[in-house]
Amino acid sequence: MAITFNETTRIFTLTTAHTTYQMQADAQGYLLHLYYGARTAGEMDYLLNYGDRGFSGNPNSAGSDRTYSLDALPQEYPSLGTGDFRNYALNIENADGSQCCNPVYITHEIAAGKYTLKGLPFVRAEENEAETLKIILEDPVTKVELHLLYGVLEKEDIITRSVIIKNAGKAPVTVKKAQSACLDFLHGDYDLIKFYGRHAMERNMERMPVSHESTRIGSRRGTSSHQYNPGVILAGKNTNEDSGSCYGMLFVYSGNFLVEAEKDQYDQTRIQMGLTDELFAYSLEAGAEFTAPEVILSYTNKGLSRLSQQYHHCIMNHICQGKYVHANRPVLINSWEAAYFDFTGDTIVELAKEAKALGIDMVVMDDGWFGKRNDDNSSLGDWYVNEEKLGGTLTKLIERVNAEGVKFGIWIEPEMVSEDSDLYREHPDWAITIPGRKPVRSRNQLVLDFSRKEVRDEIFKRICAVLDQGNVEYIKWDMNRSLADIYAPNVTYDYVLGVYDFLEKLTNRYPDILIEGCSGGGGRFDAGMLYYTPQIWCSDNTDAINRTRIQYGTSFFYPVAAMGSHVSAVPNHQTGRVTSMHTRGVAAMSGTFGYELNPALLNAKEKAEIRAQLAQYREYQELIREGDYYRLSNPFQDNFAAWMVVSDDRSKALVSVIRLTAEANPSAAYVTLKGMEEDAFYREKTTGKVYPGAALMEAGILLPAAVSEYEAYQIALERV
Ligand code: GLA
Repeated sequence: MAITFNETTRIFTLTTAHTTYQMQADAQGYLLHLYYGARTAGEMDYLLNYGDRGFSGNPNSAGSDRTYSLDALPQEYPSLGTGDFRNYALNIENADGSQCCNPVYITHEIAAGKYTLKGLPFVRAEENEAETLKIILEDPVTKVELHLLYGVLEKEDIITRSVIIKNAGKAPVTVKKAQSACLDFLHGDYDLIKFYGRHAMERNMERMPVSHESTRIGSRRGTSSHQYNPGVILAGKNTNEDSGSCYGMLFVYSGNFLVEAEKDQYDQTRIQMGLTDELFAYSLEAGAEFTAPEVILSYTNKGLSRLSQQYHHCIMNHICQGKYVHANRPVLINSWEAAYFDFTGDTIVELAKEAKALGIDMVVMDDGWFGKRNDDNSSLGDWYVNEEKLGGTLTKLIERVNAEGVKFGIWIEPEMVSEDSDLYREHPDWAITIPGRKPVRSRNQLVLDFSRKEVRDEIFKRICAVLDQGNVEYIKWDMNRSLADIYAPNVTYDYVLGVYDFLEKLTNRYPDILIEGCSGGGGRFDAGMLYYTPQIWCSDNTDAINRTRIQYGTSFFYPVAAMGSHVSAVPNHQTGRVTSMHTRGVAAMSGTFGYELNPALLNAKEKAEIRAQLAQYREYQELIREGDYYRLSNPFQDNFAAWMVVSDDRSKALVSVIRLTAEANPSAAYVTLKGMEEDAFYREKTTGKVYPGAALMEAGILLPAAVSEYEAYQIALERV
């Protein structure tokens, strides 16, 4: 049993293979958090401490006991108005204008299998893979109910949380804040690891102490954003890749979010994740309910690499869906950096011919094929094939591409509208705007109001009409601006649910089409999108050296198989940097792999390199996709970026290294491996040299002396 309840002490214990999570509905009825950490037997209510604390109030139910204060006790779901003055997860505004909810334990249910959520993505599990705990709390005055949901995936060391707020009273209430998970720690010093960035430079890792202040990160951009990823880690001071305690929190949601971390007046740490309270409020009439998106929690005391692997497994097996997740993905060539808007049907067919000659599986026709779109100022919403530009119908073009023995994929941006479009001229009110105000422009486009069904339905019809014209085997779903002009407080949430509704319908109708998510690269790289799109374009930055950092940051939560990564031309279009074809290949192979260049501009040597690169990728793609991933260096600090994947049975490993600096007369460089079998010996494929597993992990392997800048190496090892 992964979930147990002790009727006498009213303690709930959630157990996974290596972790225990415990809480107690105490004598006052409050749900106190007792413990989350390494697996242990017993009950941990002995950890609670009580004291008469000045200016920390006492709930009325405590009577004259001045030592009972919610301002100091660890809680599962802290609510504003209960005398806990720290960050709160819940704020309900009642019909009388008061902001108060005082949720106390009523009952609970334990069931086999994992709960599901209506209209939102969630961790999926078979009946025998998970258990669900639902704890019902209620405000005795308003009868607002909180259904706290816990999903326990025992084998995966994963605990999910979500909350349904139900207005079981008679008067309307407004949800002003509803986070999804809170973790309280009674003592200890922690670091918060977060992933910040900007367009084309996403998910930089930053580690900062949690101190006596409230740290808030999140997004009010309508999407999960380039600026902060909705995944954070709370790590012990000494935690590193290989050892130490760390807690992950990952939001399964693609819109606005908030993470708050704070050390309180008694040096206790609270961290919360969920929807932000900005640009948000949700009215609940009597009987109505609101679902807060899911947070995936995971813990290990074996360091950050292990934590990442736990998330990778969870995402690959319980978030991503469809036939492509564990299959070899098509290696694609995308027209964007090859031609931008300047292409015709012949250009695409030429790309297909080149692709075939090189051994690439698929051509993707990126932006510019519809309406009169020859730059990014028009036509979004006019999802009609520009047959003049393509020199014929889409059907014909796809046939020509397929005739070359190459698959065909297409770019779309369904959530957007250009003011210069027939759609906008016909339905200006479909764009998100505040009545009486001119909307904020970004990339000269506006956002369609996907919270409205009629808007979604029309776009769905138009997109399907395009997809039905031929053998489309891949879609790149883009989203190239943030949401502004939020005209009502329910819109930010309803918009995201509208996007999910659209994706749900699209994936049901086209189960054989592989969808790659994208938002100006990695601006919506989150577990919510991965539920529908098993891969996401990691960044608009294809520079191999910058990519080592972007992909490093991305790897803390997301598996390699989710990261869209391509070899592009040099000098690189974003940084102007020149790196070798080999280096670009090594960087891109730590992703779904593909190309973003015009092969017609390559010389024979470069083409031969691509063929060899593809052979190498095909040999290792399964290992790369399914293996355990280890970060071997920190490209923000070290002279080289290094990472590796090891097969489940530890018989095979592929180590990748890219040098980041060039120095005269340098010291020798060694890379220390991980995850190998200590007692085994491994043969390196190119040199035939045999290395002892333990030594590879202790002393490492000597890298060749560099003769040029940004050299890269791939070291393939097989157990002998
Ligand atoms: C975004 C994407 C790019 C490309 C362009 C097309 O920036 O991230 O890959 O598709 O849009 O406009």
